[in-house]
Amino acid sequence: MKGIILAGGAGTRLRPVTKITSKQLLPVYDKPMIFYPLETLLNAGIKEILIIIAPENAGDFLNLLGSGKEFGCKFTYEIQDKPEGLAQAFIIGRNFIDDDNVTMILGDNLFEDDFAQDIQGFQSGARVFAKQVPDPHRFGVVEFDENQKALSIIEKPTNPKSNYSVTGLYIYDHTVIDKAASLKPSDRGEYEITDLNNLYLQEGSLDVAFVNGRWFDTGTFESLFDATVFARERTLSKQS
Ligand code: TTP
Repeated sequence: MKGIILAGGAGTRLRPVTKITSKQLLPVYDKPMIFYPLETLLNAGIKEILIIIAPENAGDFLNLLGSGKEFGCKFTYEIQDKPEGLAQAFIIGRNFIDDDNVTMILGDNLFEDDFAQDIQGFQSGARVFAKQVPDPHRFGVVEFDENQKALSIIEKPTNPKSNYSVTGLYIYDHTVIDKAASLKPSDRGEYEITDLNNLYLQEGSLDVAFVNGRWFDTGTFESLFDATVFARERTLSKQS
């Protein structure tokens, strides 16, 4: 199992801070944001991690993270020239993934759960993780039948069919490379991860698991603040 941390993007909702630095380098309590998704991958035993970054602050990521030796793993870096969508990670990362399975996590997502079993036990197809949220229209939304079987995933729907959002952790087999290469950009000009997940769904190989603990998508000042409060409480409770 290989890992990808997707840490490019424009970070427009965190301007003006993101005019001078990357969102994923901002602190969440006592650590840079990217350390949290990195820990999720490391805790699952992943040793080879591709970090995809925007050109503007690439040097800062290298200074912060280095070769990976300090973290007991090996980092590879790739530049995403323009933020053209989450699914582009698998076009950029095709040589890195090769014939292996891959877990991708978004560089601004903080999960309380430990996903070691889900990641280590993964064999083929795709597995995504859903969580009930109060504002599903901001995310990819899963529609389930009465047996909790996924029927559809719709990106940012105006009338969400459930309040289950797809979170920023995705596990795929190596067929993700060809599937991502077959995608066309959406109306907003992005290679959509929802389109990729729907390819697996149509094939009958998409497994939707659930997030039990807290989940933060720290892309707004509100969620960044909430994540900081959570990280602080968690650190302090471990110390006491
Ligand atoms: P978003 O929060 O959807 O986008 P963003 O980071 O550009 O922020 P904003 O909407 O405020 O402009 O991205 C989620 C994560 O995925 C985040 O870690 C950035 C990353 N990302 C990329 O690396 N490349 C991309 O093309 C996109 C769309 C996002």
